[in-house]
Amino acid sequence: MDPSARVYSRFNLRLYDILVLVVSNSWAWRCSTTSVLLPFFRKNLGTTAHMDVGVGSGYYLAKSARAMVDTESVTLLDLNQAALNVASARIRQVGYQGTVDTVEHNVFRLLPDDLHGRFDAVSLMYVLHCLPGRMNEKGPKVFANLSAALKPDAVLYGSTILGRGPEVSHNWFGKWLMGLYNRKGIFDNTEDTLDDLKQVLRVHFEDVDIKMVGVVAIFEVRRPRVG
Ligand SMILES: C[S@@+](CC[C@H](N)C(=O)[O-])C[C@H]1O[C@@H](n2cnc3c(N)ncnc32)[C@H](O)[C@@H]1O
Repeated sequence: MDPSARVYSRFNLRLYDILVLVVSNSWAWRCSTTSVLLPFFRKNLGTTAHMDVGVGSGYYLAKSARAMVDTESVTLLDLNQAALNVASARIRQVGYQGTVDTVEHNVFRLLPDDLHGRFDAVSLMYVLHCLPGRMNEKGPKVFANLSAALKPDAVLYGSTILGRGPEVSHNWFGKWLMGLYNRKGIFDNTEDTLDDLKQVLRVHFEDVDIKMVGVVAIFEVRRPRVG
């Protein structure tokens, strides 16, 4: 397994919410989990079928259980079985009543046929910056694969920490964390820019909405281009 997925052991997932969602999001990436990312995640939840890609600790889905009363099924897709186990248990614990499916899968590979055209929303929170390769290499593969899961008019949305560019100004803490995580292979985003992300999204989708909060790009795309 690539280090970008291997690091999410059961033990590390216990620390994830505090280290990433509280400390790093507030002080390094300057994009609040509770006032920016969680409301954004909830706003786009699938009305009947939702797929969350790169589930981590399952925080966003677990905090959205009340908003998912009408969501009949949630599919969790991740390369790391520990993350799938932790996230699915957590969603159940908070009382989500719908179907929870888990799929151990690499986003760089074509999706299994039974996931094609099934979802009205697919979320991809904090996954792109972990994936190896430059944005113009990893982005097209991931967006082509995930587009296949969307129903007509469905949304694919997510967030990613960018590495550089005129819109991206890292503070000392962010620079230090970025350096550490990139050296360890947990992130591969030093060359990720807003322009490259926009370009990849516009090649793959007709409808693209993207904004920056701190050093995080937040995107929402619809209507995959065919061919
Ligand atoms: C930084 S965590 C994001 C967790 C959560 N979405 C959040 O925003 O808090 C990245 C997740 O992506 C998963 N991941 C990394 N590489 C992957 C790949 N190639 N295919 C599928 N999942 C992958 C990891 O196992 C991990 O669960």
